Amino acid sequence: MLLELARSKNILFFGGKGGVGKTTVSAATALAMAKEGRRVLLVSTDPAHNLGHLFNREVGPKPVKLAVNLDGMELDPEQTVNEHLEEVGESLRKLMAPHLAGEVDKHLELSRDAPGMQEAAIMERIAEVVEVAAKEYDLLVFDTAPSGHTARLIALPEMMSAWTDGLIQRRDKAERFSSVLRNLGADKSVGNTIFGKDDENSMDSRNNRIRILLNRRRKRFSDLRAALGNPERTAFIIVLAAERLPVLESIELQKQLQRTGVRVGGLVVNKRVPEGMGGFFQERRTQEEVHLATLHEALPDLPRQDITLVAHDVVGLAALEQFADSLA
Ligand SMILES: Nc1ncnc2c1ncn2[C@@H]1O[C@H](COP(=O)(O)OP(=O)(O)O)[C@@H](O)[C@H]1O
Ligand SMILES: [Mg+2]
Repeated sequence: MLLELARSKNILFFGGKGGVGKTTVSAATALAMAKEGRRVLLVSTDPAHNLGHLFNREVGPKPVKLAVNLDGMELDPEQTVNEHLEEVGESLRKLMAPHLAGEVDKHLELSRDAPGMQEAAIMERIAEVVEVAAKEYDLLVFDTAPSGHTARLIALPEMMSAWTDGLIQRRDKAERFSSVLRNLGADKSVGNTIFGKDDENSMDSRNNRIRILLNRRRKRFSDLRAALGNPERTAFIIVLAAERLPVLESIELQKQLQRTGVRVGGLVVNKRVPEGMGGFFQERRTQEEVHLATLHEALPDLPRQDITLVAHDVVGLAALEQFADSLA
């Protein structure tokens, strides 16, 4: 199921509870696709540095070569927030009257630790990766952070475009208001408290810049939204273990994703106890079947692939290749 699904898509998201094997399974899938000749970019959005540990090498915010046809990058949330605030600051300073620059800085400093800031910054980067990397790669594989975080993240483009739309509307209103004031020959300083003490020409050009910036941002988010909501191009894969909590969380995650218009393409049940081991292991397997029955009852239509628990840690390219071979 997994590789078949991967072959037919351009974007894959892997999500699920921590420790279930998202990084291992997403990297193995990416590697398998790269071996089939597709150009693949593997992107980790998890604050824990995953790809570096798995591939035994430094992986950073710029794509590095991990194998033939396979590049990887890690979006570091803290660094992403810094870059994001810098960019937003730069845009805002362009948009606001020059004497408000100090206010912009103060506002951004306060935003740094605001709830949702890391998610917003990561989402901005995902939107950018989808926009830019889609030209250079055939397949983008996102290894995401644990469940709740991811579903919120996926819902963000919607909220962020709403926010951008709101800003555009407010700009329109403010512009109309100030042009009415100007036409009425009202005291110029009234309009100036909104836009700063510029002459009208530079005010118009600033308004144009604002519009271009906001529209670009809106387009980026609506493109991402469209990509996420298009089941032909994109699949979200939930990785879980056949245990009570991961099963319950996966059912919940599927609901959350559905609410935001993202269709789950399949379930990967990782670390299954091997069959035919007898004794303790047989009991464990029977227990797994109970949880998987719950899973099936809640999500009867989703294709599922099981992956057996392997004897050794999956670290390094050779181990990952072996793991990838077992996915077929
Ligand atoms: N099928 C498996 N058999 C044995 N160990 C596994 C298997 N899948 C993953 N692991 C190990 O489990 C740990 C957690 O996997 P990881 O992919 O990092 O999970 P996540 O990204 O979901 O937090 C790692 O040490 C990994 O090597
Ligand atoms: Mg991980």
